[in-house]
Amino acid sequence: MKAKFIYIVLFLFSTVFVLNSFIDDNPYFKITKEDVELKIPKAFPKPIYNFSQNKITPQKFVLGRKLFYDPILSKDSSTSCSSCHQRIAAFAHIDHPLSHGINGLIGKRNVMSLQNLIWRDAFMWDGGVNNLEVQPINPITNPIEMNESLTNVVIKLKHNKEYAELFHTAYNDTLINSERILKTLAQFTGLMISGNSRFDKYIEGKEAFSEDELNGLKLFKTKCANCHSGSLFTDNSYRNNGLKTDTALRDKGRGAITGTEEDNNKFKVPTLRNIEMTYPYMHDGRFRNLQQVVNHYSTSKNFDKKYDLSLNKIGELSEKEKEELIAFLKTLTDKEFLYDRRFADPNMK
Ligand code: HEC
Ligand code: HEC
Repeated sequence: MKAKFIYIVLFLFSTVFVLNSFIDDNPYFKITKEDVELKIPKAFPKPIYNFSQNKITPQKFVLGRKLFYDPILSKDSSTSCSSCHQRIAAFAHIDHPLSHGINGLIGKRNVMSLQNLIWRDAFMWDGGVNNLEVQPINPITNPIEMNESLTNVVIKLKHNKEYAELFHTAYNDTLINSERILKTLAQFTGLMISGNSRFDKYIEGKEAFSEDELNGLKLFKTKCANCHSGSLFTDNSYRNNGLKTDTALRDKGRGAITGTEEDNNKFKVPTLRNIEMTYPYMHDGRFRNLQQVVNHYSTSKNFDKKYDLSLNKIGELSEKEKEELIAFLKTLTDKEFLYDRRFADPNMK
């Protein structure tokens, strides 16, 4: 009887052991040297962020990924970067007009997608942060997002066995500090590159467009590409795209950063890559779907008084034109990026 019991216990232990080793080697979450090679899509310009001061390795990337998905970065371990930035939405937040942070607190802005960040000269809807490595300090310390201090994050990580090991594997010594936290996070988010949509394949001559998509592309080039320009679909400028100020939020946008009256109601021109997946839209998430977005642009009657004059190129959009524009926007969905296993939550195993 006793012997049988010991056998059962031994069997259970070995099963757990075998399962565990399988999980650690699970190819879905395993990151190799090739996985972290920086591959710039053909049509893209030279990146702005330079990895030469933050050399990417699989171990550092894995550490950055762990941090991104870990609520330990928030005061009460309730909120991770991934609580707001969801992979399936190109790391925006599906369905929430405004972000939801710690203790269910509602933020002031719509969560931005995370993609092609190494080409951004400034971050946030108002460009208030100009360095990819510094950017996470903002959500970590923001009282309505993660409400934590970097010093405290470092203390918590130092007391965590798993992190002690991960930092050691990544850096070959025992030092855990905020610089390393921020740099590994930048490796993880910096490699989120989307340049493999149907549009890209069309440009490379690998895929054909339907008639609607072709017409949509033509319309887009003359009416929208003034601001949503080039292969990144943004000229990185701040503009007033005609949205009337939200009287509840009173968000001044760029004006709050520069203190210049002229910049009030201007927001960073966002990329339109994966736009089908990142609803709702605009800095305050006021539009639920792409129909509402093109309806907004379809007549100058909708525009705020101080709208950017390049919107005049749009003119009145017919129903057919609206449909074609939407058909084109949907070609910017990049399934390879959305389902890229490298960016999956490693805790899901
Ligand atoms: C409570 C929700 C929330 C959490 C948690 C959060 N973010 Fe964000 N993130 C946002 C919102 C909202 C914006 C837009 C902010 C703005 O314009 O003021 C944003 C913007 C960004 C941007 C700028 C993107 C761009 O194109 O300019 C980056 C990068 C980013 N977040 C990374 C992170 C990282 C890394 C973490 C974890 C350390 C994190 N975020 C945690 C909501 C969140
Ligand atoms: C004058 C410059 C300008 C032009 C022209 C322009 N846009 Fe925009 N677009 C912007 C700005 C700025 C925003 C962000 C505004 C905000 O959130 O306050 C934006 C936001 C968007 C968004 C929402 C993005 C998101 O992540 O929420 C979509 C979709 C969009 N534009 C599509 C278009 C289409 C389609 C056209 C042509 C019919 C167009 N835009 C023309 C400047 C422009």
